[in-house]
Amino acid sequence: MRIVVIRNLPEPAVALLRTAGEVHVCERDRALDPADLRRAVAGADAVVAMLGDRVDAAFADAAGPQLKVVANVAVGYDNVDVPELTGRGVTVTNTPGVLTDATADLAFALVLMATRRLGEGERLIRSGTPWFFHLGFMLGTGLQGKTLGIIGLGGIGQAVARRARAFGMRIAYSGRRRAAAAVEAELDARFLPQDELLRESDVISLHCPLTEQTRHLIDAAALAAMKPSAVLVNTSRGPVVDEAALAAALRAGRIAAAGLDVFEEEPAVHPELLELDNAVLLPHLGSATEETRTAMAELAARNVVGVLTGNGPVTPVAA
Ligand code: GLV
Ligand code: GLV
Repeated sequence: MRIVVIRNLPEPAVALLRTAGEVHVCERDRALDPADLRRAVAGADAVVAMLGDRVDAAFADAAGPQLKVVANVAVGYDNVDVPELTGRGVTVTNTPGVLTDATADLAFALVLMATRRLGEGERLIRSGTPWFFHLGFMLGTGLQGKTLGIIGLGGIGQAVARRARAFGMRIAYSGRRRAAAAVEAELDARFLPQDELLRESDVISLHCPLTEQTRHLIDAAALAAMKPSAVLVNTSRGPVVDEAALAAALRAGRIAAAGLDVFEEEPAVHPELLELDNAVLLPHLGSATEETRTAMAELAARNVVGVLTGNGPVTPVAA
């Protein structure tokens, strides 16, 4: 079996893949351009792909009819045309669960950074600007008794809600589906229509996948519906937010602050955001811990091995 790994992958995962076939690792960290990608996957039975690798009809044609599985090393799989691949009998898998806590930690770090002005404070000290403690110095806002509005109460959204509860926040959520009654009860979470959620929340955190329905879910109208004191946090996918509209809202004070780990034209960041002190900007670090990245790579490898050995995938994506 020919197993193609499009980027560098932690060694334990490569070792696991070797139990199921001949492994070819493209030793690089950046995405291949489309022509190189097509060359690399030619003749593959299995491909380990990730964010930035476009897996579509051209990809499947280039791989050939023996392609059996594409394992995406990410929970999000908006880079994969799943109906196209599954229509050809190719199994697509992702890495849910193993990155839930790391991503929820990072989302909550952004909540704290944005509400307590932590990036701004750090920049102030490093700039050499004189400062001294006084009662009105660099005041942020507290979280206790405030409402966290979660858009998409899946595994990561629930993990963020648990953290928020420990900080004394109330939980509201909206999304395509209502969570199980037991989840609502555990988190004391209220399900709201999205327009109400936007109006009532003090902090809004996005945990939905990027789909045609969620592209620019947060646009100028959604931002206008939020409280002027609201804080928006995005650790999902950049295009869920209209970045130009967000920059305009932050500049005009229509919302108070934003914390972003993902961007519309990643790795580019809208230039206006770079100039705003009330925008906290991180370079897509949601799942970036040693433990989590190793676990993601191993889960992707277990998916490949499962399909190639006939035991079935561990975490397939539904078409
Ligand atoms: C990373 O962004 C992921 O989807 O795992
Ligand atoms: C993410 O890890 C999820 O389970 O939703």
